[in-house]
Amino acid sequence: MLLNEKNAIVTGASGGIGEQICRLFIKNGAKVIGIDISEPNEKMDQVEYLEMDISDYNSCNENVSNIVKKYDHIDILVNCAGITRDSMTKKMSEKQFDDVISVNLKGVWNLTKFVGPHMQSNKYGSIINISSVVGVFGNIGQSNYAATKAGIIGMTKSWAKEFALKGGNVRVNAVAPGYTLTNMVKSVPQNLLDKFASQTMLGRLAEPAEIANVVLFLASDMSSYVTGTVIQVDGGMRL
Ligand code: CAA
Repeated sequence: MLLNEKNAIVTGASGGIGEQICRLFIKNGAKVIGIDISEPNEKMDQVEYLEMDISDYNSCNENVSNIVKKYDHIDILVNCAGITRDSMTKKMSEKQFDDVISVNLKGVWNLTKFVGPHMQSNKYGSIINISSVVGVFGNIGQSNYAATKAGIIGMTKSWAKEFALKGGNVRVNAVAPGYTLTNMVKSVPQNLLDKFASQTMLGRLAEPAEIANVVLFLASDMSSYVTGTVIQVDGGMRL
């Protein structure tokens, strides 16, 4: 029970990696507020689900303030929600670029803007941002997504410095997963998935639970001296 008495907000809670994080956090004693734009297929009883668009600044402001009123303290924030709109750059529309920036980059900023200072004044908190190997290595057909996932790394390091000011004691880290078996990879042609698997030392894609385990480590006091880092959970991928 690594997260006893902890309250956690997890975005992207309705599926994929976010869903696994919710499951593991509950198992470890946390109260979880799961944010997503759509309802989950299968609700977990112990999660309070909140339907919300994280790219909407005012909605983030209002909902974070309501959550703080209800739960008193937020100890953990996992920014996991993200979308893809893959296309070669020459064919990519302005909308495909803007949509991905709005959710993956601005959405992470929106929530952290309101949660980070709350944690800092409580002098306790752990923020985990889900980046991607694509933000580290780049990827054909993902210039929009790569920009956001690399941007998340820059924000993570900035926030690790900002929210630690004045004894803030807020740790901020990023996890950069490799290709993980979720709905997001379903649109990727099989020959490319085989190629991505062969580029890893372990010769396979990741299971969502393998990413969630590392997020649990960063969320808990097991990682009390870890901040400003990016942990690549990618089976040793070399693009
Ligand atoms: N490696 C090598 N060549 C590639 C390539 C790759 N990864 N991707 C495309 N190409 C080549 C194609 O073989 C093709 O070559 P020819 O012109 O010689 O035939 C050329 O580039 C154009 O490719 P497409 O015909 O596929 O172009 P398209 O416009 O139909 O589709 C695309 C482009 C939508 C980007 C499609 O290639 C695609 O879906 N690629 C996968 C993108 C991807 O990896 N997404 C990851 C999603 S999972 C995720 O994002 C989670 C995470 O964090 C890891």
